[in-house]
Amino acid sequence: MAILKKFSGVLSVPQLYNLMQTPFVKSKLAALARHNDLSKVRRVLDVGCGPGTNCTVFSHAEYLGVDLDPGYVEYARKKHGRDFEVADVCTYDPPADEKFDFILLNSLLHHIDEQGARRILTALTRSVSDDGHVHIIDLVLPGSKGLPRMMAENDRGDYPRPFSHWQELFGSIFEEVTIEPFKVRLMGLDVIELVYFKGRNRAASQLQDRGQSRVA
Ligand SMILES: C[S@@+](CC[C@H](N)C(=O)[O-])C[C@H]1O[C@@H](n2cnc3c(N)ncnc32)[C@H](O)[C@@H]1O
Repeated sequence: MAILKKFSGVLSVPQLYNLMQTPFVKSKLAALARHNDLSKVRRVLDVGCGPGTNCTVFSHAEYLGVDLDPGYVEYARKKHGRDFEVADVCTYDPPADEKFDFILLNSLLHHIDEQGARRILTALTRSVSDDGHVHIIDLVLPGSKGLPRMMAENDRGDYPRPFSHWQELFGSIFEEVTIEPFKVRLMGLDVIELVYFKGRNRAASQLQDRGQSRVA
């Protein structure tokens, strides 16, 4: 199975990444659609956007994708003609006056160690609009043996985490609105386990509960 890790180097080619992701993209985007009316989204920050996997869902909205990989970003710009930037989100702080109502981290954080993940999420609290949310989809490390665990252990990302760990990490920074574990099934088999988390800023939620809103 170590072959899987070695083989994962080819995923830096955007077209191969897209091909390999095809079976998973639909299930991940379905999790977003189950909990959100995506047609109402106004301004998206896609953190760790890869080769632009998610941007077509937001064709009606303002969109900015950021990713560490210049090859992915160049491909995404050419293919989708939207705004994409190269940035290391472990050190990147989006401008303080830029607010987004939909911040997406789709399959990023299992590439990032604990300190980096906490730093990224904390920095993003400053970029969520008062009525906005952060949406996180990530890879779960299942407790029991089987294909999903093997897939998680052999993923390109070194930090798949148990569901309870993700829940604690996300909930320590954002107020949990929704959290849902889900599986991707192929040919009748569970292949990977994932988590979807929707959260909002604690300060913003207190204002919303009181029917107020800060000027962004
Ligand atoms: C599994 S891919 C997910 C890509 C995309 N979000 C998707 O849904 O297909 C993880 C992405 O995170 C990016 N990434 C990893 N570490 C990063 C960092 N420190 N800053 C920005 N992007 C990073 C990788 O380049 C890669 O594109």
